[in-house]
Amino acid sequence: RRKIAILTSGGDAPGMNASVRAVVRASIIRGCDAYAVHEGYQGLVDGGDMIKKMGWDDVQQYLSIGGTVIGTARCKAFRERWGRLKAAKNMVKEGIDALIVCGGDGSLTGADLFRAEWPDLLEELVKTGELTDGEAKAFAHLNIVGLVGSIDNDMSSTDITIGAVTCLHRICESIDSISSTASSHSRAFVVEVMGRHCGWLALMAGIATGADFIFIPERPPSGENWQDNMCSEIKRHRDLGKRKTIVIVCEGAIDSNLNPITAKDLMDLLTDRLHLDTRMTILGHVQRGGTPCVFDRNLATMQGVEAVEAVLDSRPDTPSPLIAMCENKVVRVDLMKAVEKTGEVAKAISRKDFNTAMKLRDPA
Ligand code: F6P
Repeated sequence: RRKIAILTSGGDAPGMNASVRAVVRASIIRGCDAYAVHEGYQGLVDGGDMIKKMGWDDVQQYLSIGGTVIGTARCKAFRERWGRLKAAKNMVKEGIDALIVCGGDGSLTGADLFRAEWPDLLEELVKTGELTDGEAKAFAHLNIVGLVGSIDNDMSSTDITIGAVTCLHRICESIDSISSTASSHSRAFVVEVMGRHCGWLALMAGIATGADFIFIPERPPSGENWQDNMCSEIKRHRDLGKRKTIVIVCEGAIDSNLNPITAKDLMDLLTDRLHLDTRMTILGHVQRGGTPCVFDRNLATMQGVEAVEAVLDSRPDTPSPLIAMCENKVVRVDLMKAVEKTGEVAKAISRKDFNTAMKLRDPA
């Protein structure tokens, strides 16, 4: 019987549990044994109880639970060769040669490197007597499949990542609440949202809540006088009779010289220049926790099932697939190409080529 393992890695995202449930149940339906690796890559390194065989009922209720029940970690040991050697040995001893990883781009790159290094790792384990020749031969190829679990929606080659829509709902609910109190007091609010170097959450939340101004890393405010432009725009809104001002800033927002633009800078600007009674709200981890919305439950379920199919179809010479969503269809794309393209955005931003950064984020 084929043994398929799933782990969740990096920052948690709502919907990760639904992907674990789907992988476990689809594996069982397809006649395989399913395993959950606890605490991300750390569980592979530690082995033993951290790699648990999962039954159908073990994932009951998983659809609606936020975070990741099997745990996640940003694992230092897995970045070192000794850690990956331990992980390879634990997998072979358990008889597992297929790993589905649900995480962000860093976690998925780690998975693909692990696959590339696998024959070397096995050879070393045979040399040191930790594996037999027979074991190494029986598990000569590691199959890796990626699922993108990230609230940031920062992965290239997929329209949407697991957890991003729930997070967006959470942000919009919070901004709706802030808007009502802002209106009552005729105040301005600067709201900082997550997303790291990706402005998707800030941009979509801004559109959905009718924000006055939005700051994202991929499209910094233009010109040296952006502060004047922002203030005159907000003044215009106020002159039209608006009783509230909402400015949304992505945590990674920058100006066109790559200097950070912080919520505090913006609050001070609105206070000093426009004399608005201004408050600042950093939404933080409330954005990431809690029950996944229907979209994320279903996305994670469909992609989890497809991940199992991809494992069963995989051949030693085919590149590791990433399960993506393109034009409303669940599809397989080349994992490493997607990760490389994601890295291109950061490179374009660092050379101040913001047009390319925008295009890479939204090829349409
Ligand atoms: O990548 C997801 C994310 O929530 C980012 O938006 C944020 O910058 C980061 O993780 C926060 O990480 P941590 O939970 O380790 O503070």
